[in-house]
Amino acid sequence: MTAIAPASQLYERVKSVILPAEWSEFAPDVDAINHLKREKNAVILAHNYQTPEIFHGVADIVGDSLALAREAMKVDTDVIVLAGVHFMAETAKLLNPAKRVLIPDLRAGCSLAESITAEDVRLLRQRWPGVPIVTYVNTSAAVKAESDICCTSGNAKKIVESLGVPKVIMLPDEYLAQNIARETNVEIITWAGHCEVHERFSAADVRQLRAGHPGVVVLAHPECPPEVVAEADFAGSTAAMADYVTREQPGRVVLMTECSMSDNIAALNPGIDFVRPCNLCPHMKRVTLPKIRRALETMQHEVTIDPAVAEGARRAVEHMLAVR
Ligand code: 13P
Ligand code: SF4
Repeated sequence: MTAIAPASQLYERVKSVILPAEWSEFAPDVDAINHLKREKNAVILAHNYQTPEIFHGVADIVGDSLALAREAMKVDTDVIVLAGVHFMAETAKLLNPAKRVLIPDLRAGCSLAESITAEDVRLLRQRWPGVPIVTYVNTSAAVKAESDICCTSGNAKKIVESLGVPKVIMLPDEYLAQNIARETNVEIITWAGHCEVHERFSAADVRQLRAGHPGVVVLAHPECPPEVVAEADFAGSTAAMADYVTREQPGRVVLMTECSMSDNIAALNPGIDFVRPCNLCPHMKRVTLPKIRRALETMQHEVTIDPAVAEGARRAVEHMLAVR
């Protein structure tokens, strides 16, 4: 059995983004969580938007929504703690139903998931008979259950084109759908949902950043409005943006996405100058070290899925994962 690294040793990973005084506040929780994981036979899956003390201090697996879904399927411990938002925990539960899936704060939602209900999807199907429904994973299990297939920001174009049809409905992120529509000949019917973090970026922000930071490379998440993506040098999922920075090593970069992404990548790339326009996701930020510790101590909050929707939702997610 491998030794559990103490927080003092883990500090090396984050020393360029967390001050020593801050780390001494985090260290007791980091140590407690890393021991609790062993004791409770648990792993922590953390999204790229989690803060660096979670991402680099206690997470076992990190990634974008697609990677977390794939990894959740392979977990063989008894417990999965999902350091992320509720739809991610639901997806993990759908894909590995025998595991106990915990979310540290049940209120960690998502403005996209809130933007559409299962009834809305049923009405759209009536309105567009025969048109397949591609649903972003940022939705409830009930919405997924009404869909033909899911997608993430990392595979949306491939999923849309895999269906071999001239027209699809893509829910609920209007901007993601519009950004994909620009890259494909498939006609896309959209829904007016938005991510409350990414919708705040504008093309004027990009121009201002370029003027204020000469030579800056601009990366944008496809949940940003299309005019932001059009002005960016590269657009992709959180994992695709992290890979771009690691691969290309730009001297100066700005990520038009949630704040913590830059901190997490900066910790691994101390030579890169990150310009940080800070848009926080209040849902992602509900997850903290003390709440993760409490989740492991109390085995709460357990994520369950209504059996009436679980089968349909699983089918839509598995359909996505089967597309290579
Ligand atoms: P990805 O990590 O899949 O790109 O998703 C971004 C997001 O907003 C998750 O909430
Ligand atoms: Fe939802 Fe946007 Fe927050 Fe992601 S960043 S969880 S899409 S509100």
